[in-house]
Amino acid sequence: MATSRALSRLALRRAAAPTSVFTRTFATVSPSRPVVPESQTSTAKEPSPEKDARIKTFHIYRWNPDEPTSKPKMQSYTLDLNKTGPMMLDALIRIKNELDPTLTFRRSCREGICGSCAMNIDGVNTLACLCRIPTETTQESRVYPLPHMYVVKDLVPDLTNFYKQYRSIKPYLQRDTPPPDGRENRQSKAERRKLDGLYECILCACCSTSCPSYWWNQEEYLGPAVLLQSYRWIADSRDEKTQERQDALNNSMSLYRCHTILNCSRVCPKGLNPGLAIAEIKKSMAFT
Ligand code: SF4
Ligand code: F3S
Ligand code: FES
Repeated sequence: MATSRALSRLALRRAAAPTSVFTRTFATVSPSRPVVPESQTSTAKEPSPEKDARIKTFHIYRWNPDEPTSKPKMQSYTLDLNKTGPMMLDALIRIKNELDPTLTFRRSCREGICGSCAMNIDGVNTLACLCRIPTETTQESRVYPLPHMYVVKDLVPDLTNFYKQYRSIKPYLQRDTPPPDGRENRQSKAERRKLDGLYECILCACCSTSCPSYWWNQEEYLGPAVLLQSYRWIADSRDEKTQERQDALNNSMSLYRCHTILNCSRVCPKGLNPGLAIAEIKKSMAFT
């Protein structure tokens, strides 16, 4: 098992690197060029479109690990928006069900809860299930996996390192003292409110994969998603390991590689502010 895992990792490819982010708005985090000219890719079309059909083209990143010598490519599909649900995930599911069963992507809840459908759509990291298909049919859509991650297949990024980093911050309550009433660790309403804007994170990785610091240092820099989670426990009045949590971040790479670029806060599909959480960690460490 371990050997096959190692072999499959050898076959992984990094998604096309976004190069234009520095000259675009913060929210525009896009692989700036298709991997191969689209003219060289095949197109799957809506079968027998109707007269008043609203045909839209989707260009989708494809790479198959079972063909390790083949290069990633863009593949084009056309759909009639009259027969497609309103969200990008609806389009992907229709393509998979009706045009091309080999198209691979992750999804589960289809309502912004599981975080598994995160991808780069029209230049922005977001959740496919919360992203409306632009209804302008002359505007073609481009869908890539999350940028600067290894790709397992098509739109599926390898999140092994991301989850390893999440594990490293010990994302659970740590206490030595038993609850005062022997049953529950209570919080006041004000203490509980400090967790708002933190507990809602679904670990979709849209923020971390939009962060240039994370692109270049993701082996050592924890990135905005994991740091927001770390602050969720630092801010929790019931946790007794605040000092240990801060000490673990007190080095040149884990936390201080954040240079307040704020792509993370612009793209979060849940409306959270990881940049602010990172600033709060730095502040809490400066004043202890
Ligand atoms: Fe996703 Fe937002 Fe959490 Fe980042 S902070 S992992 S973008 S939900
Ligand atoms: Fe990156 Fe966000 Fe900091 S984009 S540099 S983690 S503010
Ligand atoms: Fe669960 Fe999109 S399918 S967040």
